[in-house]
Amino acid sequence: MISEKEYRKRRVRLGRKLKPMSVAVLFAAEPKTRSNDTEYPYRQNSNFYYMSGFKEDKSALVIVKGAKKFHTYLFVAKKDKTQELWHGKRLGKEKAKELFLVDDVFEIDEFEAKFKEFVDKKQHIYHDFTLEYAKVKVLKRYTKNIQSYENLASYVERMRLIKSKSEIKLIKKAINITKKAHHRAMKRAKKLQYEYELQAHIEYVFKKNGAYSDAYTSIVACGNSANTLHYVNNNKKLMQGNLILIDAGCEYEYYASDITRTIPVSGSYTKAQKEVYAMVLHVQKEIIKMIRPGIFKSTLQKKSEELLCQGMIDLGILKGKCKELIKEKAHKKYYPHGIGHWMGLDVHDECPYKKPNGEEIALQQGMVMTIEPGIYLDAEDENIPKKYRDIGIRIEDDILVTKNGCENLSCAIAKEIDEITRMSNSIR
Ligand code: GLY
Ligand code: MN
Ligand code: MN
Repeated sequence: MISEKEYRKRRVRLGRKLKPMSVAVLFAAEPKTRSNDTEYPYRQNSNFYYMSGFKEDKSALVIVKGAKKFHTYLFVAKKDKTQELWHGKRLGKEKAKELFLVDDVFEIDEFEAKFKEFVDKKQHIYHDFTLEYAKVKVLKRYTKNIQSYENLASYVERMRLIKSKSEIKLIKKAINITKKAHHRAMKRAKKLQYEYELQAHIEYVFKKNGAYSDAYTSIVACGNSANTLHYVNNNKKLMQGNLILIDAGCEYEYYASDITRTIPVSGSYTKAQKEVYAMVLHVQKEIIKMIRPGIFKSTLQKKSEELLCQGMIDLGILKGKCKELIKEKAHKKYYPHGIGHWMGLDVHDECPYKKPNGEEIALQQGMVMTIEPGIYLDAEDENIPKKYRDIGIRIEDDILVTKNGCENLSCAIAKEIDEITRMSNSIR
């Protein structure tokens, strides 16, 4: 868990960065309608959560800064018996005052009146530029003499780049649950008939272990389905002889995990599948070895493209010289995505890749990124040897940058051919 002290420390760091005579506002996420009067499960806005640790909707966090000093205020929903009967208990203002280390707590109904007071004589407003229009309108109603509006999200997202010890603990916990889910999938695949059955097993393990949700919609893609990168239908039959690409990770206490494994339906890889798998795995390991403070993501990207391109030449999937093929972007047809991304409160953590001056941000201790090379060989692609068609392979791990190198946080999830084969054939 993240302590209240840690949340306060974050607010102090943010408060110090704000210009004098400013007001900064973060709103909770809006509930989202699924259809008619049904809603998606509520998920707090990550930036708001990072700064407040508050999980309820209808809330806001405000930092009001004078010449130097600043104060923080939390706005929460009112306790209301009828509302609570239908939608569940609210923490309420009094309890929130006890639990949260802010200077004061108000009810959200008071927001406009209080905001009007806060902005008096202020010169700068910070808010999330992606906010819905209605909320921005409220902010602008009372801010006639403001000199600048700044995107608060970008300040928070820069802070989110470096994970604290307690954040890393939660990410490890998420990964540990996801490990159990992938291992269960490996053990059950042989006996199941449909992709969605496998998905159900995976998500059962998430929930059984206290992970409220998945961090993104699970991809369970058998055979050629794996060649659709964002395949989420998960409704096809598991066909003997094919591979299943499983990209699934739970969210635990708001922290994501993001893991891909590619396993055989039947319990063993064919010779051709093994060849492609071994090549992708080799590339993944080589890239992970390169991770240390100071290296750039673009360097990892470039190296992964070179290694995968050379690997495809060696297998006869691509023909020609590596340098030229890369220049022509021929390899992109089979490796169309990035080598990885930041991960944290969001699976694609909304942290910057560049500094405000446009320079790339180098990896630093405490950052977490995925490494996920993949090769996608369509069933109908006549340019590649027949034996390699109908194969989509991605291998994805979550990597923590450490002082002198890195730690693969998901290294306990089976990915060697022998390990996976053993697991697929183990009797449960
Ligand atoms: N699961 C989404 C991704 O791998 O980026
Ligand atoms: Mn990923
Ligand atoms: Mn993934």
